[in-house]
Amino acid sequence: MSERVTISVIKADIGGWVGHSSVHAALIERAEEFLSREPHRQLLIDHYVATVGDDINLILTHERGVDCEEIHQLAWDTFQACTEVARELKLYGAGQDLLSDAFSGNIRGLGPGVAEMEFVERASEPLVIFMADKTEPGAWNYPLFKMFADPFNTAGLVIDPKMHAGFRFEVHDLIEHRKITFSLPEDMYDMLVLIGAPGRFCIKSVFSKETGEIAATSSTQRLNLMAGRYVGKDDPVCIVRCQSGFPAVGEALEPFARPHLVSGWMRGSHSGPLMPSSARMASPTRFDGPPRVVALGFQLADGKLVGPQDFFADTAFDNARKLANDLADYMRGLGPFEPHRLHLDEMEYTTLPDVMARLRDRFEEMDE
Ligand code: 13P
Ligand code: 13P
Ligand code: MG
Ligand code: MG
Repeated sequence: MSERVTISVIKADIGGWVGHSSVHAALIERAEEFLSREPHRQLLIDHYVATVGDDINLILTHERGVDCEEIHQLAWDTFQACTEVARELKLYGAGQDLLSDAFSGNIRGLGPGVAEMEFVERASEPLVIFMADKTEPGAWNYPLFKMFADPFNTAGLVIDPKMHAGFRFEVHDLIEHRKITFSLPEDMYDMLVLIGAPGRFCIKSVFSKETGEIAATSSTQRLNLMAGRYVGKDDPVCIVRCQSGFPAVGEALEPFARPHLVSGWMRGSHSGPLMPSSARMASPTRFDGPPRVVALGFQLADGKLVGPQDFFADTAFDNARKLANDLADYMRGLGPFEPHRLHLDEMEYTTLPDVMARLRDRFEEMDE
């Protein structure tokens, strides 16, 4: 095989079991069967079908580079095959994230979320795939900043000569459709002005300044912006390479020990803590949440996915779950008040136009 390998993580919600809580086993079986079948199997080196909440995450390794039409078509066809099962079982929102009837060369813009990177596999290549439910792409801003720019999180920034120069961050403006690259630590304060607003500015990718190598990449599709109406929340994925010039695995996991508040809980319209969960425990319940994140670790071996290691199953994240539950209690107490409910501009469901139309005649001008 050529020494370059591509990892593509492509996700979609194609029907929830029950409501928006989890993925039915029959869908996972269909995805497995479809990807393992000839000739599909020949396109790939390896695959792993993962889930978080009601989202299916296809983790695919191959030699075809990013934005490869055949790989995107394979993911699209897999989701279509799963949608047939979802329709038979009348799962909730069957086919929800497939916004088009036909595939047209690239899965970006058609609904599913995509994170892909191509690199030369190192002598040892540890990877962590983060997958979240009931949130949005900007949810990775805080942890990616901590992993690659905060010396209080990542000791390697201070003590590893291969990390000491820092990292470059590519940030996307999802509203104005433009991008900018920041070099950290020099540009730290400028970048924080933007990424502190995760509903608009998202860290797309991170690169080592020492080697130029890609270190991390995330999905930045915002489904509601593409569809122009409510069609679920763009539950995101992120790939992080670890060790030897990148954060140690434990440095990549560390930001999740302090759950941060993210948008996307209940009807995509509330803010709540991002709770680290084992793959088995990642079915949102309370108020359709709290929002979840799962971390699966793999060692790549000639493109084969050796894993997964279900990191957040570990007891070391019990306190984070406790804190997330305490924060959830507090936030729920606010009910329909901001900042638990999102700002009006960001609400996925909104009755505001109807209510304003009804109240129009009851508003009076004020003198001052
Ligand atoms: P090893 O010495 O086991 O490679 O670990 C280094 C490290 O980065 C641990 O955090
Ligand atoms: P999903 O985006 O995970 O489908 O959740 C939608 C929702 O509104 C849950 O309350
Ligand atoms: Mg759903
Ligand atoms: Mg979801």
